[in-house]
Amino acid sequence: MPDIASRLIAWQRRQGRHHLPWQNTRDAYRIWLSEIMLQQTQVTTVIGYYERFMQKFPTVQTLAAAPLARVLEHWSGLGYYRRAHHLHAAAQSVVNDYGSVFPESQEQLMALPGIGRSTAAAIAVFAFGRRAAILDGNVRRFLARHHGIEGFPGLPAVEKTLWSLAEQLLPRQHLESYTQGLMDLGAQICTRNKPLCAQCPLCSDCVAYRQNRVQELPTPRSGKAPVRRDFCLLILRRNSRVLLETRADRGIWSGLWSFPECNTSNNLAALIRTRWGLTLIAKTAQPVMVHKLTHRTLHITPILATVRGRLRNATALEARFLSLPEARQCALPAPVRRLLEQKMRFSAT
Ligand code: ADE
Repeated sequence: MPDIASRLIAWQRRQGRHHLPWQNTRDAYRIWLSEIMLQQTQVTTVIGYYERFMQKFPTVQTLAAAPLARVLEHWSGLGYYRRAHHLHAAAQSVVNDYGSVFPESQEQLMALPGIGRSTAAAIAVFAFGRRAAILDGNVRRFLARHHGIEGFPGLPAVEKTLWSLAEQLLPRQHLESYTQGLMDLGAQICTRNKPLCAQCPLCSDCVAYRQNRVQELPTPRSGKAPVRRDFCLLILRRNSRVLLETRADRGIWSGLWSFPECNTSNNLAALIRTRWGLTLIAKTAQPVMVHKLTHRTLHITPILATVRGRLRNATALEARFLSLPEARQCALPAPVRRLLEQKMRFSAT
């Protein structure tokens, strides 16, 4: 039987994806951008953002020269904004340290902000035809099943085994088809739920399939529940405008715009007066909204309030009353965007 790589390459050529917007190019900038967007976001969501982003920032120089706020605006909705901060910093490093030409080796790519070992490998393969192993979430899942590897893949010892396997399986040639094949297999066949084992080109020697343990592998993370955080978001409306403020540089949603946060809605009138010099007219607490992040679960109580008066901001954060169309242009965390649409839609002018 041909080895794993040969079967995967043959399958990728017949059944894999060949027309994604970041394929059929050697432009490292295009490839890098796609790999960063795809780190935590699915292909179907990425495509639209990718094309708009490429239109706005067609080269690494345009991205490096843009203000961070513009970059965040174009990232808005994709989530995991740390990626956008790193993207901007990496573009500046490529321009300033490498004369606007991306470095070619996996090691040099890994030295740029936001590029880990697997992303560096994907860029080195797709942009420069190098021989390097990827190990993203899809590949971890496939390898854990195919080789019957026990243990949560995030554990250092398990991760080490998986990396070493990923390196051993690399073919000598056709790295692009092989690497794309791993990505396509994880997205189309060896999926987390309901994998399509009957259609898998590698199921004949898959340990999990043979032992009927496909649903058990990879081993889920044990213990450590996400930390719960409870807070209120103040949706302060003055006529048809709503108050948004920038978030602090640290903590969740840093650098994005948001409704102001507070711990409790007790003494709201006093808080609004001291922070912004505004007068509270009416308030209602809305149903709690639960939003899951990787290590935290946010329990957000939206407080809808009508205010009046002139804005006198006494905080270190920039605050502005914006119309709905203006607010939509801002870089907003996903739950804030959702609240904006739910609570402001009918008051737009
Ligand atoms: N996921 C990560 N990188 C990808 C790529 N280049 N194509 C499709 N899915 C991916």
